[in-house]
Amino acid sequence: MTMLGKIMRSAVAAEAVVGFASLSANAQEFGDAKLGREFALKHCSECHAVEPDTGSSPNPKAPEFVRVAKTSGMTGRALAVWLDSSHPTMPNFVLHKDDRDDVIAYIMTLKKAPEPK
Ligand code: HEC
Repeated sequence: MTMLGKIMRSAVAAEAVVGFASLSANAQEFGDAKLGREFALKHCSECHAVEPDTGSSPNPKAPEFVRVAKTSGMTGRALAVWLDSSHPTMPNFVLHKDDRDDVIAYIMTLKKAPEPK
């Protein structure tokens, strides 16, 4: 299982415990997808394919964002948890919450993008 997969499972478990209280914490709360796309193109595209039609990521270990979005069961919340823990290949890489939420909003729009080749 990938690291994100583990986090997704623990996020689901936490959700079951918190129950109702966390219902508001869904994708609606995340930021501005347009700003997120710009931010990602600037800060993430060195390694990740940010846009769905870019093809493979420049860094072969970094999943294309369209694939991240289309990972089964992927939610904005799981991404938020993942991005709040340090990015494994970038130990000091911590996103400002606004930027993080914008990037998440953008990645979530890719769920509807055409399948990557
Ligand atoms: C220096 C290269 C690099 C940069 C810059 C980078 N990433 Fe990554 N990212 C990676 C690599 C490599 C992985 C795979 C690591 C792993 O799974 O252990 C990864 C994994 C991820 C994942 C998890 C995907 C999954 O399905 O497991 C997310 C989400 C992610 N990056 C988001 C971002 C965002 C958002 C940015 C910009 C703000 C960013 N990354 C910038 C290299 C990078």
